Amino acid sequence: MSGKSFHVQPGGALGGDIRVPGDKSISHRAIMFAALADGTTRISGFLESADCLATLNAFGAMGLSHVLDNGARVIKGLGMQGLRAPAAPLDLGNSGTSMRLLSGIMAGQTFDSVLTGDASLSRRPMKRVIEPLRQMGAQIEGRDGDRAPLAITGGVVLNAIDYTPPVASAQIKSCVLLAGLYADGTTRVHEPGISRDHTERMLSAFGVTVERDGDTVSVSGGQSLQATDVAVPADLSSAAFFMVGASIAPGSDITLRDVGVNATRRGVIDVLLAMGADITLINERDQAGEPVADIRVRSAELRGVEIGADEVELAIDECPALFVAAACAQGTTRVTGAGELRVKECDRIAVMAEGLARLGVDCHELEDGIVIVGQPDTPSFSGGSIASHEDHRIAMSFAMAALRASGPVIIDDCDYVDTSFPGFVELAAQAGLDIQAGAAE
Ligand code: S3P
Repeated sequence: MSGKSFHVQPGGALGGDIRVPGDKSISHRAIMFAALADGTTRISGFLESADCLATLNAFGAMGLSHVLDNGARVIKGLGMQGLRAPAAPLDLGNSGTSMRLLSGIMAGQTFDSVLTGDASLSRRPMKRVIEPLRQMGAQIEGRDGDRAPLAITGGVVLNAIDYTPPVASAQIKSCVLLAGLYADGTTRVHEPGISRDHTERMLSAFGVTVERDGDTVSVSGGQSLQATDVAVPADLSSAAFFMVGASIAPGSDITLRDVGVNATRRGVIDVLLAMGADITLINERDQAGEPVADIRVRSAELRGVEIGADEVELAIDECPALFVAAACAQGTTRVTGAGELRVKECDRIAVMAEGLARLGVDCHELEDGIVIVGQPDTPSFSGGSIASHEDHRIAMSFAMAALRASGPVIIDDCDYVDTSFPGFVELAAQAGLDIQAGAAE
């Protein structure tokens, strides 16, 4: 396929003081809640990535206007009932978060809508939001029952439900809670495991009463949102590539500024620490309702660990990067309880196993995970060509593997890196990775 590829020369170390771009999950929610709020919201640190712009454009198609002011997005809210019927299907590109959260909002509108996405998003499971929304009374149809496009009929009455999602998922939880704001009664989600709580935190910041009792989160319908300013922290999921790169590349010492370290997301830090990584959190503080810290990472000798469902839940998006760390560790890393990785932007278990094997790593897939035999002596990887399967996190994870490779690592289809991390090549090069983006071979 066309698009740019990454060419990464072997060796080197990471250093300096950098800030990765804004948090993707928080940026999506900031746009959505600002649009539904009464009043004007200023979003600073917004992630200007393809995924978050898909959310912004979808609301633009429903009448939302905004201005750019000193790099901040300033949004004049339309209120809970103020969205207008879009003239065309809302194209959400590659973004699962946009589609799943928006489906909850659209279910509560007076007008019909259609949500579409690219080939990857059209392959991802949507029954997980269709089912609870139907239980609430929504009229929503997916292609073949489980896939996008989703066609949502407006003007129905939604009723509150008590719902236990089949998997721990912030996207399902958020979808149901957002529909719950349009429903009669109190909607409760009983979480089967921990998932990121940005929706709850940010809804509270927008003046909504969100209650948590153990693993149950609830909202009552009929509440309105009051605009508030949002300062988006740097994305821990983007920082994770640099944390792994600095851990595995001897001589590295890097500081990552303003990173979100929310307890429901910070598994990558704890897993790397358990592997023996040298990570220090500095200046821990609260920023607009989210915990933030600067993170210093120095290289260290890593050891293999057992990573089970509890750790995976807190590090779901960072697993590809963690697999690269595992390949450089002393001993074997066994990951289980990670079946959700098979339904992300690609099947991340199969694609990581394929790529690691291409770089000479001894690994094999499990149904719900992977076993990786570490090679603690440098080089841990051979050089080679990697198929990213159009998945941003696969591409960036393998870029970091080059730090411990014996030859160049070439990764295809890297345009998708822009879905979450615009400027990755420039920032990685600034930090010391010998990386160039070129035309496809
Ligand atoms: C996200 C939730 C996670 C995560 C995704 C972003 C969110 O998905 O993988 O990248 O912003 O709510 P699930 O909730 O489906 O696990």
